[in-house]
Amino acid sequence: MDLILLYSIPFLSFSFAVCAWILQILKPRKPCKLPPGPKPYPVIGNILELGEKPHQSLAKLSQVYGPLIHLKLGSLTTVVVSSPGIAEIFLQKHDQVFSGRNHSGAAHALDHHKLSMAWLPAENQWRKLRKICKEQMFSAPSLDSSQGLRRDRLQKLCEYVHGCCVDGKAVDIGRASFTTSLNLMSATLFSEEFAAFDSGSCEELREVVCGIMEYLGKPNLADYFPVLRSLDPQGILRKNTVYFRRCFHIFEEIIGKRLEMRAGTRLKNDMLDSLLDINQRNDSELSILDIKHLLLDLFVAGTDTTSSTVEWAMSELLRHPHKMLLVKNELREVIGKNHEQVTESDISRLSYLRAVVKETFRLHPAGPLLVPHKSAGEDTEINGYTIPRNAQILINAWAIGRDSSTWLDPESFIPERFLETETDFKGQHFELVPFGAGRRICPGLPLANRMVHMMVATLIHNFDWKLDGGLNPQQLDMNESFGLTLKKTIPLMAVPMELHTF
Ligand code: HEM
Repeated sequence: MDLILLYSIPFLSFSFAVCAWILQILKPRKPCKLPPGPKPYPVIGNILELGEKPHQSLAKLSQVYGPLIHLKLGSLTTVVVSSPGIAEIFLQKHDQVFSGRNHSGAAHALDHHKLSMAWLPAENQWRKLRKICKEQMFSAPSLDSSQGLRRDRLQKLCEYVHGCCVDGKAVDIGRASFTTSLNLMSATLFSEEFAAFDSGSCEELREVVCGIMEYLGKPNLADYFPVLRSLDPQGILRKNTVYFRRCFHIFEEIIGKRLEMRAGTRLKNDMLDSLLDINQRNDSELSILDIKHLLLDLFVAGTDTTSSTVEWAMSELLRHPHKMLLVKNELREVIGKNHEQVTESDISRLSYLRAVVKETFRLHPAGPLLVPHKSAGEDTEINGYTIPRNAQILINAWAIGRDSSTWLDPESFIPERFLETETDFKGQHFELVPFGAGRRICPGLPLANRMVHMMVATLIHNFDWKLDGGLNPQQLDMNESFGLTLKKTIPLMAVPMELHTF
């Protein structure tokens, strides 16, 4: 009898599974009504409609099909959101369902996608990393305690610009801001400085971070046709892996040196020490490998986004000299004329500067489509449409920032619009989402907020500026290039001058 029972268990389980499967198929399904969108071509779908500036092409499509549209990018079902109201539904009301990630093929380098905060699904390991960032790294007290280090790096920016001033040389604002961001980040994370202005020595980390960004931002066929992933037809994964190795090598040296120092009980009490404290308390909580992947994420996500925002802010101010003067006057009033330096605690008193930064984020969000989200749960119904499971979700922050039903005169740079409102970019106001919102909101926001304000304030408070080559403000090219971050196509070159004190 026992034997019969034993043999019948697999048979019965199999029969149950088959019945469940048949019932599932026969179950009457709700008709799946996808959001509207352009008709896809066979195989490639709507890939060609993305063009060179997908954020702009998608904004145009949303004017035809509405703020919630559906496209087929190769085999990838994609849903694009282009209004604050629908962004709120995706990023807040159904935040849990839409917080997944569709990792790009390039993120598979050294299995980064399995360990990285930016690519992990919104589950336990991801939550743990976010908590560490929030509590140990980007909390107000941790950032306050590292602000002296950042002040030193901003002083270096001043010295570099002063040198250009003396030589009558133009400054490549994006490049100088990139070097400064890299320095501010490395000062904040592990008290080290990598990049020196205009020198060959800065190159290693800068080159590696730029390389990784380039390959993460490159359109990759394997992302649209996952069957191609193992073939890596454009060699993107292969080349990115080389940069990842170089980056890890730099981090290994820094971590190695730090572990030696810690063995001699010398602590720097910076963020790297906080991470190593956690590691040494419990390796399974945060391994050294986790730390390397986390540092890579922070450098890649935090450097170029910050510096391109500074470049856009300076471009807008040089294009609008009257507004530049308003920032300068505010800085003089609040900080003083006598070479006093701006400090992070001054930011709250600089309301016009803050309005300039908000207006820059509105018009030029560094991640115009955020980082693509994924619908990770079941099919979900939004506004009468079905958002299929596993669909890629693009939130077009660029289009939302220029939506004429939200913003008056949306194409113009008018910081004043923010002076009388509470609207901010910290995830509460869905009309301004340069950092995203909800559980995937940028964890580096508190640091980025300080860095962007401080760099713009430092450049303006210490120097007067004119466009290089006698260009008049209206001639300044403001075209955008789409990549991992949204950049100026033609870099901003500006000539610094000794301050005109009056
Ligand atoms: C102006 C500067 C910055 C902008 C505009 C920006 C914007 C963004 C955006 C749009 C996202 C994706 C949000 C989403 O998926 O919904 C993001 C994610 C992220 N950012 Fe930032 N960011 C900036 C600076 C920084 C800094 C300074 C750091 C770190 C030091 C940082 C670290 C990250 C990380 C790790 C993620 C991935 C988070 C996750 O997937 O859970 N970012 N950022």
